[in-house]
Amino acid sequence: MGGACHSGAVEFQEVVRRRRMVRQYADRPVAPASLDRLLTNATRGPSAGFSQGTELLALDDPDDVALFWTATGAASGTHNVWLDGMRTAPVVVVPLADESAYRRRYAEPDKARDTDAEWPVPYWLVDTAMAALLILQTAVDEGLGACFFGIPAEHVDSFLAAFGVPSHLVPIGAITLGHRVADAGSPGSPDRRERRTDVIHHGRWAGPGLRDLGHVGE
Ligand SMILES: Cc1cc2nc3c(=O)[nH]c(=O)nc-3n(C[C@H](O)[C@H](O)[C@H](O)COP(=O)(O)O)c2cc1C
Repeated sequence: MGGACHSGAVEFQEVVRRRRMVRQYADRPVAPASLDRLLTNATRGPSAGFSQGTELLALDDPDDVALFWTATGAASGTHNVWLDGMRTAPVVVVPLADESAYRRRYAEPDKARDTDAEWPVPYWLVDTAMAALLILQTAVDEGLGACFFGIPAEHVDSFLAAFGVPSHLVPIGAITLGHRVADAGSPGSPDRRERRTDVIHHGRWAGPGLRDLGHVGE
């Protein structure tokens, strides 16, 4: 933000630095204005062709949050450290990708692409993931914690049915949100793995390429 920090907000570099997945939450609701800001910011992300094929399901009623957990496979009697921590979240947001929005958009005259041609990568998933990151970053700026996690493939249909979501939408995962507590829940993989420092390649690939590894031409 380069010094133009608005009052009360965390400086941008701090948002990036502080963001981490939070898997345990305080028994305190998320203010409706904070939830509104999280969701609205998610709609400010980029989208290929401005297709805007991202939908957001926000659950902040305790019954709905409980239904989310049962519909995604956590039977009421199931307990583990991860689930017990995650179930303390007062809010769950599910970002959903709509491939059909891209197929429609890219058939319009200013795009008019071969509608059978595949995208280099599924842009609807790319864009929906970008929206999810905006939620995670806004949570930090709101002084909240958040965790992005996957919905097990075998429970996607029951999740869609439980909330009346059209079956062509793909939930790319889900995000728990809430106020933070001193971490007592599952710490996650960074506890067991180092952050990689060798991922940035300036100009040319530094380190072994595929050819060096003998994967090409064999
Ligand atoms: C696509 C994706 C799926 C993830 N799935 C889970 C999950 O199922 N459970 C979980 O606790 N964390 C999940 N995470 C969070 C990662 O474990 C976490 O981002 C990673 O360990 C780095 O930690 P940090 O985000 O706290 O820096 C997921 C993250 C992404 C991007």
